[in-house]
Amino acid sequence: MSLIIREARAGDEAGWRRLWAAYVDFYQVDISEAVTASTWSKILSPDSALFLRVAEREGRIVGFALCLTHEGSWILGRDCYLEDLFVDASERGKGVGRALLDDLVALSKEHGWSRLYWHTAETNVTARKLYDSYVASDGHLRYRINF
Ligand SMILES: CC(C)(COP(=O)(O)OP(=O)(O)OC[C@H]1O[C@@H](n2cnc3c(N)ncnc32)[C@H](O)[C@@H]1OP(=O)(O)O)[C@@H](O)C(=O)NCCC(=O)NCCS
Repeated sequence: MSLIIREARAGDEAGWRRLWAAYVDFYQVDISEAVTASTWSKILSPDSALFLRVAEREGRIVGFALCLTHEGSWILGRDCYLEDLFVDASERGKGVGRALLDDLVALSKEHGWSRLYWHTAETNVTARKLYDSYVASDGHLRYRINF
């Protein structure tokens, strides 16, 4: 049962939305339909910096990495920020998360992006175990004001 990591396409909307709903539940946040629809439309738009990589097994979307690239003051090129990573609960522990991260590392090198970075909750032990196998946390804390 081979796993394919690839760029999302229009036909993935239902599969992505199923996982997105579970991801939103995982974080216990309320993301409106307007925001979800807008995010999906940005994912498909060549004019948006957002992009989505999906993990597909036997025609089913079992995980995703939602990212964006941006300029930075410390670099000449672009940074890649991994905003959301999620694997279907029934598919966890089978290497899907690692495959999605490996894909982003390869993609970053291919595009010449300067850095790949992401945040996670200090308490997310499962995700941190995966992340610690790539690089040590740089110890930065996030401050965010919501408007
Ligand atoms: C975090 C998450 C993406 C990992 O995906 P996954 O497909 O289960 O991860 P993998 O199977 O590739 O496991 C990779 C490593 O993570 C660790 N890991 C995975 N599941 C684990 C678990 N239940 N307990 C402890 N460690 C675990 C292992 O160290 C594993 O290492 P290995 O490759 O040497 O076996 C997935 O658990 C998930 O979607 N969680 C809910 C959403 C979330 O937390 N997203 C991240 C937000 S920043």
